[in-house]
Amino acid sequence: MAKLWGGRFGAESSSLLDRFNASIGFDQQLWKYDIEGSKIHAKMLLSIGILNDEEYCKIIEGLVHIGTQIEKGEFEFRISDEDIHMAIEAALTDLIGEAGKKLHTGRSRNDQVALDFRMYVLDHNQIIRRKILNLMEALLKIAQLHTETIMPGMTHLQHAQPINFGFHMVAWCVNFKRDYERLSDSYERNNFLPLGVGAMAGTPYGTDREMMAKALGFKAPTLNAMDTVSERDFALDLLYDISMLFMHISRIAEELVLWSSYEFKFITLSDAYSTGSSIMPQKKNPDVPELLRAKSGRVFGNLMALLSVMKGLPLAYNKDTQEDKEGVFDSVSTALISLDILQEVIATMNIHPENMLKMAKIGHLTATDLADFLVRKNKLPFREAHQITGKIVAFAEEKGVDISELEEEEIFTLASLEISGVKEVLNLKTSMNARDSFGGTASKRTCEQIDILQKWIKEHKNG
Ligand code: ARG
Repeated sequence: MAKLWGGRFGAESSSLLDRFNASIGFDQQLWKYDIEGSKIHAKMLLSIGILNDEEYCKIIEGLVHIGTQIEKGEFEFRISDEDIHMAIEAALTDLIGEAGKKLHTGRSRNDQVALDFRMYVLDHNQIIRRKILNLMEALLKIAQLHTETIMPGMTHLQHAQPINFGFHMVAWCVNFKRDYERLSDSYERNNFLPLGVGAMAGTPYGTDREMMAKALGFKAPTLNAMDTVSERDFALDLLYDISMLFMHISRIAEELVLWSSYEFKFITLSDAYSTGSSIMPQKKNPDVPELLRAKSGRVFGNLMALLSVMKGLPLAYNKDTQEDKEGVFDSVSTALISLDILQEVIATMNIHPENMLKMAKIGHLTATDLADFLVRKNKLPFREAHQITGKIVAFAEEKGVDISELEEEEIFTLASLEISGVKEVLNLKTSMNARDSFGGTASKRTCEQIDILQKWIKEHKNG
């Protein structure tokens, strides 16, 4: 099969080379963007007099026809066409004849691939962001129902202070807000048109890049032709954004796994999102959160792979960058399905407030409140109050109860200080609601956080 670039070649390329060199197996995913870019490029060629009206119309009709064929699965992707750009161009010339051969005027596959891939990246940046908003909404829906549901807040995975379950859901939610904002930032940074820079140095045809940028919805054309065909920062940005997203997802997944164990039993995952064991009939396994936790491995790997491909490349285009796509496609499809399933798992889980409360009564969660109380009541230095509280905790431990269950007399005997009203201070709910600084766990502060996030989501859904 003669190659579109075959003019100077005497012999046919080896089929092994064709297999090794081709990207058509994966870059066919870019077909829509390739056709969209070609249409605008043709329009620009018409405007600068390279194409006449008839040629232009033939090209557009041909491209539309090819698009329909691909959509219907009737297009034959051949390895001998090497990549999606040449596959479409060759099919166009087959279809409409001479006019098809004019389409590549003032264009190189180097700027063509930079355009197609950037359009893919920006498009999926938006799709991922929409899914993040949906997930945030699902989290806040649960948060709203549980602003009074006491659970043990933990540091070092040890009981620390009483919080409410809604507050914990909000904590997850703000991670996703940052992920969204990170994606928005990289969208803005990369929203520039690569097309029209030619192979590396610009074109001699008076290419109207402003017009093409506008027509394709970019902010402006990129500034430097050589950089444009060479850089893949836009793809790395997306890989990094998705990596951060998955670092967060993996932490949430870990908590879902822990919470659905018998040791915690804070939640039960719905049957629709749990799996069984082939040998142990009693098992209900959290496979979905486990897989979500693991997906960060491939996503981080994709980032490392492309960073390594790009490191040390000389300017300008190098074939190395053909290796930029598969990892990005993989990270994107992983993100899309993962965000959907995480949202489902969260929306359908059964929450067990009674078990959360039971666990909140273990581990002396209100010890800090007792220390603070002794400081306020007796004007003690905090360090001293900390010491005394420690002794009271040790006593409760020995007795096998939580400090909230000690009698006022017992505390008085140990502290020999003014302690009237201490029982109220040791109450879990009082303690939770006492943490009412902005951003704190107090129910009213949790509601405030939910409110702020809901308004933010609304703005971004409409914007
Ligand atoms: N398939 C190539 C890629 O993905 C397209 C650009 C090829 N350009 C070239 N001069 N060989 O990077």
